[in-house]
Amino acid sequence: MVPRIGLGTWQAFDVGNDAAARAPLREVLKLLDGNMVDSSPMYRSAESVAGDLIAGLGTRERLFVATKVWTTGRAEGLRQMETSFQRLRVQTMDLMQIHNLVDVETHTKTLREMKQQGKIRFMGITHYTSSAYADVERWLKAEQYDFLQINYSLAESASAKRILPLAKERGVQVIINRPFAEGRLFAKAKGKPLPSWAAELGIASWAQYFLKWIVSHPAVTCAIPATSNPAHMKDNLAAGTGPMPDEAQRKTMTGYFDSL
Ligand SMILES: NC(=O)c1ccc[n+]([C@@H]2O[C@H](COP(=O)([O-])OP(=O)(O)OC[C@H]3O[C@@H](n4cnc5c(N)ncnc54)[C@H](OP(=O)(O)O)[C@@H]3O)[C@@H](O)[C@H]2O)c1
Repeated sequence: MVPRIGLGTWQAFDVGNDAAARAPLREVLKLLDGNMVDSSPMYRSAESVAGDLIAGLGTRERLFVATKVWTTGRAEGLRQMETSFQRLRVQTMDLMQIHNLVDVETHTKTLREMKQQGKIRFMGITHYTSSAYADVERWLKAEQYDFLQINYSLAESASAKRILPLAKERGVQVIINRPFAEGRLFAKAKGKPLPSWAAELGIASWAQYFLKWIVSHPAVTCAIPATSNPAHMKDNLAAGTGPMPDEAQRKTMTGYFDSL
């Protein structure tokens, strides 16, 4: 439904009104066509910056815009989401997610209503750490969400044990956050060569290695690496195309990375 690679906005898009810092972000967004752009009111100015730039480019209809609700209480949740609609400058939100399961019981009811009213197209939940997986699992079983956003990477792979299979079983689309473990993966691979067989998988950089490993998991819909660098965005987008590793090749990729 959405391309395999999207864009995260945490930190990267929190640049306020700084015109020089906004310029490369505009170029990053220009490269997208149908891709998911993920934000949150937690990311300070990121929603406003993304909203202004997308409006300026006139590409809203070519993007899948996702944000989150991150507060407690029905009234406060509705107020916060209204602000997000204004900041991201959308009439309809493609996806509204309950950030880190904050007041998930209340917001699940509100999001269901908003979906019925056509204000949001899809609803979901997010988290980013294995300490929350028991709760994530409980909510995935208790309610029918359209999307789950969760962490998964060569540095943080625990969600593959129970969470990813459960999401697949429940027909929930999966978005992967922290695909580079906030950049930590690059630190480990720095100065190390890609294996000779990477080219056969269409892998030309470490970013593509990390992302292809993620998006080839059968439960995964897309990954949303954050970047403020247009060259990095191009690099990341290339990981969504070409050959994908099968299960045996994914194991080989894990082994090679662990041996670095
Ligand atoms: N609970 C939640 O809902 C939750 C939690 C965590 C994250 N998220 C979402 O997931 C998104 C991604 O996670 P994240 O921002 O924590 O970290 P990440 O995407 O794992 O890593 C971002 C880092 O990778 C670098 N990078 C990106 N592409 C690169 C490339 N091709 N080559 C080299 N470096 C590259 C970026 O630097 P440059 O800017 O220099 O490219 C940045 O420092 C967030 O932005 C957010 O939207 C949600």
